[in-house]
Amino acid sequence: MSQFIPEAFRIDKPLSLNQYLVGGEIKEWGGSVIDVNSTIASNDSTSSTYLGSIPDMDEASALEALQAASAAYDLGKGLWPTMRPIKRIKAMKKFTDLMVQKREEIVKLLMWEIGKSLPDAQKEFDRTIVYINDTIEEYKNMDRDAARFHRHEGVYAQIRRGPLGVVLCLGPYNYPLNEAFALLIPALMMGNTVIFKPAKYGVLLMAPLLEAFASCFPPGVVNIVFGRGRTLAAPIMRSGLIDVLALIGNSTSANALQEIHPKKNRLRLVLGLEAKNPAIILPDADLDLAVAECVSGSLSFNGQRCTALKIIYVHEDIADEFNRKFAEKVDALVFGNPWDPKVFLTPLPEVDKPDYIQGLIDDATSLGAQILNPKGGERSSNFIWPAVLYPVDDSMRVFHEEQFGPVVPIVPFADIQTPLDDMAKSPYGQQVSVFGQDPHTLSPLVDVLVNLVCRVNLNSSCQRGPDMYPFTGRKDSAVATLSVHDALRSFSIRTFVASKDNEYNNQILKSILDERGSNFLHTDYLL
Ligand code: G3H
Repeated sequence: MSQFIPEAFRIDKPLSLNQYLVGGEIKEWGGSVIDVNSTIASNDSTSSTYLGSIPDMDEASALEALQAASAAYDLGKGLWPTMRPIKRIKAMKKFTDLMVQKREEIVKLLMWEIGKSLPDAQKEFDRTIVYINDTIEEYKNMDRDAARFHRHEGVYAQIRRGPLGVVLCLGPYNYPLNEAFALLIPALMMGNTVIFKPAKYGVLLMAPLLEAFASCFPPGVVNIVFGRGRTLAAPIMRSGLIDVLALIGNSTSANALQEIHPKKNRLRLVLGLEAKNPAIILPDADLDLAVAECVSGSLSFNGQRCTALKIIYVHEDIADEFNRKFAEKVDALVFGNPWDPKVFLTPLPEVDKPDYIQGLIDDATSLGAQILNPKGGERSSNFIWPAVLYPVDDSMRVFHEEQFGPVVPIVPFADIQTPLDDMAKSPYGQQVSVFGQDPHTLSPLVDVLVNLVCRVNLNSSCQRGPDMYPFTGRKDSAVATLSVHDALRSFSIRTFVASKDNEYNNQILKSILDERGSNFLHTDYLL
């Protein structure tokens, strides 16, 4: 791995983030801090790099943020939840303009904090901007559709979508910007107020955005706190004042947080959780295509994607050829620092991840699996080379656990019923990839697979995008649906004004509309 760091990406001095955003004010944090270290070395003599620090905020500050978000929502009477849509859009656009100016800083921090390659970090940033702009357009569409009055059984109604209240938003470390904003932005767009706590890695990259959040939204609408989830999120949930828990990450934390909310029926959930997406390689599959898609599907960003292919089922007739080609391709991947040219595999941000992956490899090999690629399992200070394990079966941990890292289990099968039964038994149900071409085989297979997962990818790896498409999962993989359109729905509820069709009511309705005094009841057509 090259130790050369292009000038633009060097860390000249650590970034001490000693601020947080509460009630519209960027406040100074004077308490204890958490050091932020990158597992990437900045010169030959170090094995990691000190990037700076973030506030280790306490329960009192968490409750201060909650109080600010609740006050801004003000039981639905607040400025933001009652604001005319066009004004909310204006605020969102202003924020986007300011955010775009921070692209370089954020991309650089994405590389250092989570080890994402330069092209992927740029893609994460740009995709987020597109997501915000698409959200604004979709919000306008929804508002336009809601501009008319319905009339049924002598009752007029104007039906819109209203906010739900105060949202606690917790994002994951693998997409610290994109996935967090894919929750935050639709929640805000619909008129909710938000408390956001970034994940354990990818936190410093919020620093360049604090000012933009503070200047674009009314006080208390966006509150950003830093520190440990247990210290901050638990008291917020225990208060019972949270209306929506929006979390992309781990089901253990999601379950623990739901448990402590005292008013279960009031709490809405928007959750993206674990997955163990399988690839199924049928005997007639185009093997070169299947190998290429499975390599990128299982190992892009080192397998640290909820949509990653985490187990591969290969038909026994083609297993030898598939395995050989797959193992060769994996060992030909380029490992390096995020800015290195052609890099594909990058340092793992979690210091204990190589040991965890090693544990999965040791367990599988002790139970009969082999490592098919010569480099598989090679260790360096911040990485473990992806081991291609074969044959894997259900006695092994790697068959069941979401590895979220670089190791690829391959399971042989003779009968398609085997992967189908395994998928039916699995606690997860996000996506599947199927490789094959015979329509007589694929047609009935698709009909079963769509009832086991929420997206069936034909001859391509699993992925979340395009973001206009629904992103969700069955069983323990998700609660609610995210897409540009669906996320706006997930963070809102249908609510309407109804009036019986008579002279008296119609006259009143007409006056309200003519005077344009209501931000809800209006027939403006947003362009
Ligand atoms: O970590 C889960 C992400 O939603 C995956 O998104 O398929 O675009 O990498 P992606």
